[in-house]
Amino acid sequence: MKESIEKIFKELEELKAASQKEAEEARIRFLGKKGEITALMDQFRSIAPELKREYGQKLNELKKAAMARIEELKACVGEAEASTAPKEDLSMPGDAFPLGSRHPVSIVRQQIVDIFRKFGYDVAEGPEIEDDYHVFEALNFPPNHPAREMQDTFFVSTGHVNPLLLRTHTSSVQVRTMESQSLPIRVSCPGRVFRNEAISARAHCIFHQVEGLYIDKNVTFADLKQAILLFAREMFGADSQIRMRPSYFPFTEPSAEVDVSCNICKGKGCNICKGTGWLEIMGCGMVDPNVLKASGIDPQQYSGFAFGMGIERIAMLKWQVNDLRHYFENDMRFLSEFSTATEV
Ligand code: DAH
Repeated sequence: MKESIEKIFKELEELKAASQKEAEEARIRFLGKKGEITALMDQFRSIAPELKREYGQKLNELKKAAMARIEELKACVGEAEASTAPKEDLSMPGDAFPLGSRHPVSIVRQQIVDIFRKFGYDVAEGPEIEDDYHVFEALNFPPNHPAREMQDTFFVSTGHVNPLLLRTHTSSVQVRTMESQSLPIRVSCPGRVFRNEAISARAHCIFHQVEGLYIDKNVTFADLKQAILLFAREMFGADSQIRMRPSYFPFTEPSAEVDVSCNICKGKGCNICKGTGWLEIMGCGMVDPNVLKASGIDPQQYSGFAFGMGIERIAMLKWQVNDLRHYFENDMRFLSEFSTATEV
């Protein structure tokens, strides 16, 4: 029995296991019902009483040692198995980080500003909360002009001579530029404007405009026409044509409305241009002498032209989006359509 005990001690020392399964097999071999140590325990019952004490102790130690050794092996292979087993499933598709894209209104605003920058126009900005003077009076609006009425303008404060209001057009930035910059002036003025209108497919109470202003000596209507033709060709394609129709704005004289040839049907007539072959893109004109005078510029020495266009309108024509509301609802299905539309 003594030899058997020593033999098992030795075996335990050298015992190895490469997996949980092998460690469990070793436990069964030594400590299972029919295990080697269990068998020794059985033999122990029938040994001479004077030897019991000595062997009893030895057997107990052996049993403890076997249990400890097998525990140790199990823990070791457990760790090894855990560290070699791949923790992550590397074949799983990664989490996509959705990349945002620029809003179509921002894209078109940037395109317009970039085109005019090439022609030498700086960018000027002004406040969205403006006063009556910069939005109407300095722009030659007569005192009772309907645009000043409550139904068009959101007033911030009323009851005094120069009420505060949300600007109804970016033409107010013309005035601020003429007041603060030295001549000659060449600016484009992008910005948000507000009008008290019922929201529909064609109108919104908030939208965006780009205003343009050029003042120098000897600026003529021919210069205006050329600037707008070049703009239309950059924006809508090199074969674009423009036409001008007489119009009226208080701040320009003469004034015109500009159409560009329909870039969908190339002038033949389609449902976008309602069969006319032309699309209206902006208002423009020669700056009225009264407007120059109001900002301290001598109309005898200087002349200039101005134009103003709606950014949403240009975007609608570019991408044939026929409902203005899409631009304001932040529907991802709509916005993600423009993720690649950054080229002019
Ligand atoms: N301010 C005009 C509007 O909001 C647009 C406009 C028309 C601007 C003619 C101009 C212009 O500078 O010359 O409808």
